[in-house]
Amino acid sequence: MTTQAYRASILHFPKQSHSPKQDYQYFDDGILVTRNGGIEFIGEYKHYINQYSEVKIQDYSGKLLLPGFIDAHLHFPQTEMLASFGEQLLDWLTDYTFPVERKFADPEYASHIAKLFIKQLHRHGTTTGMVYSSVHKQAADALFQQAARHNMLMIAGKVCMDRHCPDWLQDTPHSAQQDSAALIDKWHNHGRLKYAITPRFAPTSSPEQLHALGELAQQYPDVFIQTHLSENLQEIAWVKQLFPQQKNYLDVYDHVGLLRKGTVLGHGIHLEQAEWQRLHESQASIAFCPTSNLFLGSGLFDLAKAQQQQVNVMLATDVGGGTSFSMLKTLGEAYKVCQLKGDQMDPMQGLYLMTQGAALGLGLEDKIGNLNVGSDADFVILDPEFDELSALRFEHHRSPQDIIFALSMLADDRAITATYIAGKAVYQATPNTLEGAL
Ligand code: GUN
Ligand code: ZN
Repeated sequence: MTTQAYRASILHFPKQSHSPKQDYQYFDDGILVTRNGGIEFIGEYKHYINQYSEVKIQDYSGKLLLPGFIDAHLHFPQTEMLASFGEQLLDWLTDYTFPVERKFADPEYASHIAKLFIKQLHRHGTTTGMVYSSVHKQAADALFQQAARHNMLMIAGKVCMDRHCPDWLQDTPHSAQQDSAALIDKWHNHGRLKYAITPRFAPTSSPEQLHALGELAQQYPDVFIQTHLSENLQEIAWVKQLFPQQKNYLDVYDHVGLLRKGTVLGHGIHLEQAEWQRLHESQASIAFCPTSNLFLGSGLFDLAKAQQQQVNVMLATDVGGGTSFSMLKTLGEAYKVCQLKGDQMDPMQGLYLMTQGAALGLGLEDKIGNLNVGSDADFVILDPEFDELSALRFEHHRSPQDIIFALSMLADDRAITATYIAGKAVYQATPNTLEGAL
């Protein structure tokens, strides 16, 4: 692969930050140089152009170059059931989710949806997803195969569930452990791919299954772990009934060894103080999924509390409980959830939670989430003036904060010009033919 240079306005967070509002790096007229899939240089265009006079420059002047987005929680089999009407979590799972996930017993179908799913990620600027597959081992294979085709750093896992769901979707403690181990051996660190041990959530795993998965986690200390936590009040009451001996919902996972850095827990809306404390101590992360939390009527995540408790948070779509693949839209909805809690989420803080902050929580900050020299060249090009209205909006106000904020309210995949993974374009927008409409 050759060296390539990109000229654009460039924005990222080079380091860990408690104050992303201040700690960003921005080059109004910047240059990013990639080589062999990695980042070789980042800086001001005018200062460094001579150094790279031999290199072909892709000119994205007037556009914004950001690290590729990280979506910390979403479900690939739910791609086709976005926007299913009328239910809250437990009925929604029974009426919509489980019947759809049944189709993924067919590897050909799984492969067909995996292709479509990964295309959706790329057209929305998402370069890393932390993904739930279905219960079927072959569906996870199909997903990993498709991600490998694009050299993605994707984290994914086979869902494990052995009770409280239809018979035709159940595995067992033993098969969940065996199938997950086989998938880890096959895919974890295969190229850029990573594996996540994935019990669906406490109600659908027996204590025996959770123990088996805890054992597996000890056996593979560098794999990721993902599950759901405290999303819905009915769900929480059910977990208390099912696990009366555990201190709280989080403890169901904690006491079997499923809590550590690299564990990502979806939602965490209704947490007790002791749970915040353990989340902090264990360095596990919460995936904040605002479009899903609003759509399923689950509740309002308390981002300010998470920060006060020093719990790591990542932003996520939770497709198909979430309603959009767009991390920009997700950022906008996160802002609104915080407004309803009486807090204002700074747009730079939100952007941090879907780039560098997420990478740090996963321990992957040397590879993704930023544009530091040596990181992998996963990045996205945005056009702030993607339509007539946004062009008007940005005519006079163009600070980086303002651009990110307005894009979070106004934009979606229409603002994505191109997405690059390991230095290669995986998505390029076609010119907007609607602009000429009468
Ligand atoms: N809890 C258990 N399974 C799911 C799921 O598929 N989506 C959401 N939002 N919550 C869950
Ligand atoms: Zn989910």
